[in-house]
Amino acid sequence: MNKCAVIGATGYTGIELVKILIQHPSVEIVGLTTRQKQSIPVRDLIPALGPSCDLMIETYSFEAIKRKADVVFLCLPHTEAMETAEKFLKAGKIVIDLSADFRLKKVKDYEKWYKVRHSAPHLLKKAVYGAPEFFRKDIGQADLIANPGCYPTAAYLAVVPLLQRGLVESEDIIIDAKSGVTGAGKKLNPATQFCEVHENFYAYKVAQHQHTPEIEQILSDCAQKAAKVTFVTHLLPVRRGILATVYMKKKKNIRLQEISKAFREAYRGEPFVRVKPEGVFPSLKDVERTNFCDLGFTVEEKTGRVIVVSAIDNLLKGASGQAVQNMNIRLGFPETKGICSL
Ligand SMILES: NC(=O)c1ccc[n+]([C@@H]2O[C@H](COP(=O)([O-])OP(=O)(O)OC[C@H]3O[C@@H](n4cnc5c(N)ncnc54)[C@H](OP(=O)(O)O)[C@@H]3O)[C@@H](O)[C@H]2O)c1
Repeated sequence: MNKCAVIGATGYTGIELVKILIQHPSVEIVGLTTRQKQSIPVRDLIPALGPSCDLMIETYSFEAIKRKADVVFLCLPHTEAMETAEKFLKAGKIVIDLSADFRLKKVKDYEKWYKVRHSAPHLLKKAVYGAPEFFRKDIGQADLIANPGCYPTAAYLAVVPLLQRGLVESEDIIIDAKSGVTGAGKKLNPATQFCEVHENFYAYKVAQHQHTPEIEQILSDCAQKAAKVTFVTHLLPVRRGILATVYMKKKKNIRLQEISKAFREAYRGEPFVRVKPEGVFPSLKDVERTNFCDLGFTVEEKTGRVIVVSAIDNLLKGASGQAVQNMNIRLGFPETKGICSL
């Protein structure tokens, strides 16, 4: 049994991780942590586990986790994970970081978008971006896995196959994305309170969202040429899910058939990406509480645009489900092990 710990286990992604790991047949949870001084019974946060569950979330102690765990998941806010990650790496642990602290390769990009100094810039090159569909081999060897952001996951799965095959322009991509409120985390924020969100819908961080450089980085890496995106995010009055509609300019003479072939080739055999028939589009309900990304696409001939709609659950394929998928790859387990998608 591999021994796992979750740091920041009381938050939204932490709770989802606990739900998956507790049922995973080949791992054991040996540590769940909080900054709070009192221990918290896991069953208080996940009542469905019932009274017989005696797992506790304990006050964070680096030494205690170091003694017990082989794999450490960091579910901390971005800018709070980098120091903790470095310490566990030095102690020889496999670190899967759900924050953004190791996703960007260039320290100047990180510091520009996250507005803090990076305390471990030497680790940015060492970290492997945990997009299983494109970097599976590298993930299998990595000790530091930078789990992708939720919006970036929905976006890159919709775009990379087309860019890699040269079917669309790389510098004219519009990503119009909507997220449920859990995407903002559990911390108090006036903009995500019930009265602001309920029966409301609004755009935020328009063309300024911190996931923009992450999306451009993975698209550029996969396409081997510079990619530029216009990225607009919106808050949906639902708890979970991301729906991203992506508009791309197709190259001359490219037809719907080639777009269809690209998606089917790229995701044939992928356990968690499902491509819909042409002209059929996913909804949040299709993927809620699953680790699937569902994709629908069409070509609008009059404008020469390819339109792709991508749907994920932000807490699963966009965070904790993908993190366990990455752990499975790293530990040599079947990629779907322990990840229930029904
Ligand atoms: N939510 C999503 O959909 C999503 C998707 C992809 C990636 N992510 C990323 O995953 C990470 C966790 O997100 P989340 O949504 O789970 O956040 P969250 O609900 O706010 O939970 C974060 C947890 O970290 C602990 N924490 C908060 N501030 C801390 C600090 N300054 N130092 C140490 N611990 C602190 C808190 O636990 P205690 O108060 O109990 O200590 C909290 O429960 C973030 O970096 C986020 O950007 C989130």
